[in-house]
Amino acid sequence: MSDKKKVYVRTYGCQMNVYDSDRMIDALAPKGYSPTDAVEEADLVILNTCHIREKAAEKVYSEIGRIRKLKEARADSGNPMLLAVAGCVAQAEGEEIARRAPSVDLVFGPQSYHKLPDLVTRASNGARVVETEFPVEDKFAHLPAASRETTRKRGVTAFLTIQEGCDKFCTFCVVPYTRGAELSRPVSQVLAEARRLADAGVREVTLLGQNVNAYHGVSDDGGTWGLGRLLHALAEIPGIARLRYTTSHPRDMDDSLIEAHRDIEAVMPYLHLPVQSGSNRMLEAMNRQHTREDYFRLIDRIRAGRPDLALSGDFIVGFPGETDADFKDTMDLVERVGYASAYTFKYSPRPGTPGAAMDDHVPEDVKSERLARLQALIARQLKDFNAAMDGRLVDVLLEKPGRRPGQLGGRSPWLQAVHVEAPESLLGSIRTVRIEEVRANSLVGRLVDVEVAGGPVGAHDIIMRHSTGAVC
Ligand code: SAH
Ligand code: SF4
Ligand code: F3S
Repeated sequence: MSDKKKVYVRTYGCQMNVYDSDRMIDALAPKGYSPTDAVEEADLVILNTCHIREKAAEKVYSEIGRIRKLKEARADSGNPMLLAVAGCVAQAEGEEIARRAPSVDLVFGPQSYHKLPDLVTRASNGARVVETEFPVEDKFAHLPAASRETTRKRGVTAFLTIQEGCDKFCTFCVVPYTRGAELSRPVSQVLAEARRLADAGVREVTLLGQNVNAYHGVSDDGGTWGLGRLLHALAEIPGIARLRYTTSHPRDMDDSLIEAHRDIEAVMPYLHLPVQSGSNRMLEAMNRQHTREDYFRLIDRIRAGRPDLALSGDFIVGFPGETDADFKDTMDLVERVGYASAYTFKYSPRPGTPGAAMDDHVPEDVKSERLARLQALIARQLKDFNAAMDGRLVDVLLEKPGRRPGQLGGRSPWLQAVHVEAPESLLGSIRTVRIEEVRANSLVGRLVDVEVAGGPVGAHDIIMRHSTGAVC
């Protein structure tokens, strides 16, 4: 294989795809591929796709159409372009993509990324490659370690996938079909990767998994560790100042994880805990395996140990059978919890999921109207949450140069973007900042302090949020 080829990766969907895209780039490095941001100069284009909603899946076909034109322009140049579709659409639709889009040379699912060099060789030799099996071997054991190049590109924050797949089978969701059964990476593999990230200058690690809090990794002594125990070990790694994890299922927040929020300073007081609906009837139809009361109790327990905890969530409106009363319950739940942010979606029936075959689909205009009301409520909560920061002291991890010269951009413990006048030499440090201006999507502040000793400190003077009023 010749040297100096270029790979362009376009990433759709969730953070796990962002992580996977970097791993694909790392896996291709020994074959002489380096990443490019310019699609027209690429020898290999990979679309890393998402199947979660119909719109996400359809985007892929329009992108394939655009790239086909580039490919055709290059066809006679003696330097052909290979087009690959990876990710969850590839896993779900496999052969169908190959049939519908003849310009695609390779189709491979998330469990095949470690085989990428071999798949690309086969495609370069003219084979049409479709690889959507769930292989028995552990792809993580075969994927190369995160390279310094991809790590540096991402700066002082990094994603680290520790768990993949899902056994929950919520009735609306494709993930159990596209990512397969739950699999946790062994503890030693996770710790080694985190140490390498820290050595490369990473200060904040976000642990990823479709169901990250179901993590149960095998440890060297043959036992298994849950996420709480893993967080303790990660917090000990020199250089790692902040830990986050996403996405969690309310059913899998065990005592040790709840205690980790109380006991580990590096665990940030911000939790993405999707509930999808505030109606018990809908929660049951969705197979979420908990009630709204369970959710309230859980939040109260976490906030009891970590009063400044802020929450974000995911909501689906218009699941089959959702009535006005069900939707009212969702609005009520949002009022009671008080979110710092949330993602809201209109239900999108996905082929092969139980939800798609249910009766009583909600008309599109009703979905749109409910979505607008929910979004307005959440926007108000987000605004209030940010407004409450005005004049406060907040610890900010300075991550990158700001928009204006002399400014740096960073994040608060609650993932808010913060801009501050500061020299570049402070990049990668955590500083205390007094917030002086609250904008629509960011905060602006002034440095008031030397570096925060030891790195992570939550809010010095912020005690957020009330109890949900759940009866425990
Ligand atoms: N594992 C996570 C969710 C992963 S999918 C969890 O259990 O919470 C991310 C979000 O997409 C979901 O939380 C849900 O809100 C949304 N989603 C999933 N399937 C959907 C569908 N068919 N229609 C609309 N939204 C959907
Ligand atoms: Fe999908 Fe439910 Fe699994 Fe989350 S827990 S990935 S929503 S099936
Ligand atoms: Fe999408 Fe697959 Fe992630 S369906 S949300 S890219 S797990």
